Amino acid sequence: MEDHLPQSVRVERRAVSERESRDANGPDWDRYADEYQATHGAFLGDAGFVWGPEGHREDDLRILGDVTGRDVLEVGSGAGQCSRWVRVHGGRGIGLDLSHRQLQHSLRLDEETGVAVPSVRGTATDLPFAPASFDVVFCSFGALQFVSEIAQALAEVARVLRPGGRFAFSITHPTRWMFPDDPGEAGLTASQSYWDRTPYVEVDDASGRVAYVEHHRTLGDWVRLLHAGGFVLSDLVEPEWPEQHDRVWGGWSRARGLLTPGTAIFVAHLRGDG
Ligand SMILES: C[S@@+](CC[C@H](N)C(=O)[O-])C[C@H]1O[C@@H](n2cnc3c(N)ncnc32)[C@H](O)[C@@H]1O
Repeated sequence: MEDHLPQSVRVERRAVSERESRDANGPDWDRYADEYQATHGAFLGDAGFVWGPEGHREDDLRILGDVTGRDVLEVGSGAGQCSRWVRVHGGRGIGLDLSHRQLQHSLRLDEETGVAVPSVRGTATDLPFAPASFDVVFCSFGALQFVSEIAQALAEVARVLRPGGRFAFSITHPTRWMFPDDPGEAGLTASQSYWDRTPYVEVDDASGRVAYVEHHRTLGDWVRLLHAGGFVLSDLVEPEWPEQHDRVWGGWSRARGLLTPGTAIFVAHLRGDG
């Protein structure tokens, strides 16, 4: 879940369409972007690649393999930190994000670092790229858990990937959906059904409009989605909480991280001749 909850919203679990999800989450990320970058920017690193709140870095995990000379798309790229890392490591990293304000931060970091990430505003369910344009597509807590029409998003990834291309993404570990989104003791007592896929929704009290949405799929759902989408799953990385790490990020904390996985990183490739 997101690590901010404005006073004026109420939390519900209810069905929401792709359109509602996008219309809520774009403006929500626009509003939140300045605070997000001020709070987490130093931890992420301007040209750093962090896979989740546990702080595991691509420098160590090497989920994407050698990106040198590769065409690499990041879906839900925010301020482009990960794609900047790709560029520094010799790949042709490109970013896509729903939020105009997040992309403005990306431009700011392009100028500050001298490493520019070509980026486009768009949505994961309608990627503005030609078929077979990329060797690698990835998301680090980007887009996927904000999308309702997830099969369409995976179809788009499959379309823009070259045969054999790699698709890797991190999301909130699906088992976290059983627990309240609380970094403390309260976040350790299961209180919701793991199998309840009803989206998490914040509704603006004043207008009654949907203001923020996250979608839940179980581990089995992801395996079936990837298989149906033409992918072969090669790994599911569940990063452990590092011994010395004591940073709270929303519902992620040392107290919970030592007991339950907070992040899941799926690693797959597109079936084909690659
Ligand atoms: C948690 S941030 C992660 C960004 C970046 N990877 C990072 O680590 O800071 C999630 C990003 O996904 C973007 N996003 C949400 N829904 C999206 C969608 N449907 N298509 C593309 N991007 C989306 C948000 O605007 C936001 O920048």
